[in-house]
Amino acid sequence: MPNFWTSLPKPFLALAPMEGITDFVFREIIAEIAKPDVFFTEFTNTDGLFSTGRDLVIQNLSFTEKQRSIVAQIWGANPKSFFKAAQLISELKFDGIDLNMGCPDKSIVNKKAGAALIKNPNLTQELIKATREGAGNLAVSVKTRIGFDKNIMQEWITFLLEQNLDALTIHGRTGKMRFKGQASWEDIGNAVLIRNEVSPKTIIIGNGDIKSYKEALEKHKNCQVDGVMIGRGILANPWIFNKTTEPVTHTKKEHLEILLRHMKKHRDKWGTTRNFAPIKKFIKMYVNNFPGAPDLRNKLMQCREHTQAERLVTQALSSTLEHS
Ligand SMILES: Cc1cc2nc3c(=O)[nH]c(=O)nc-3n(C[C@H](O)[C@H](O)[C@H](O)COP(=O)(O)O)c2cc1C
Repeated sequence: MPNFWTSLPKPFLALAPMEGITDFVFREIIAEIAKPDVFFTEFTNTDGLFSTGRDLVIQNLSFTEKQRSIVAQIWGANPKSFFKAAQLISELKFDGIDLNMGCPDKSIVNKKAGAALIKNPNLTQELIKATREGAGNLAVSVKTRIGFDKNIMQEWITFLLEQNLDALTIHGRTGKMRFKGQASWEDIGNAVLIRNEVSPKTIIIGNGDIKSYKEALEKHKNCQVDGVMIGRGILANPWIFNKTTEPVTHTKKEHLEILLRHMKKHRDKWGTTRNFAPIKKFIKMYVNNFPGAPDLRNKLMQCREHTQAERLVTQALSSTLEHS
């Protein structure tokens, strides 16, 4: 069955799902300034979607047309919830649904979910089957690591590829490594060779430590992955998805305009349900790489609410305009 993954350019670039970062507002901003080929939502708990807290959880699944292609990522360990979540995600008209089998956080692993699934092929199989049944024609993918506490890439990736997935993202670390050491692109390259044998139609996305488009192109060439996923690289460069290998610098004005736009969209979108605190991650990201950034960043990090921060950024912007 053709699906959106097969119509993407090679190599395509995806923004990694990052809880607390790649929310609706951040995706909207990134879609405007330098858009990846694929967005993922933050991971969403399948049981939460059908609990009394549903109204809050379902906010993770809002998106605009500007954010396509967009994949909803889910986590959990209950096949019935995966079935219902897949039905819902299909009704919401996402382009795909992705199963998290890589998160090593204790709170997730203790629930037999995330990276714990690497140790539980039977449950993995049930979750994929239930998702497929609920998803209808929607593309089904998995995002995983190369092992739980030791590298079992060969066995685990072969097993996943036997599940007839539309796409598979491999972060080249074990769960135990969390973010330590280096991602093994050698393992990712070997996973592509397994794919060629076991499931030639499955799209493979490599992930881990990529900091530029140039590096993404190298990994595509050397490891033959179809796509490259970038996570933390965007924290240092919000324009990372501009497909250029030339070094590009962005002005103070550009950085500050984005921050202001982000803060306003955050306020409009989340109202009173999310306070100012989550904005601090984005202040660290945008207030960088221009003269005077550290001083302004320090002042903004001390703000406690939107109005105060927006005033400071507006002042800094108007002084930029006066000097230009
Ligand atoms: C703050 C943060 C939140 C993350 N949240 C998720 C998540 O919700 N789902 C997921 O599959 N991976 C999550 N990840 C892992 C990333 O998607 C990615 O696999 C990892 O950061 C390695 O890629 P990178 O080296 O390009 O950052 C998260 C990573 C970070 C740093």
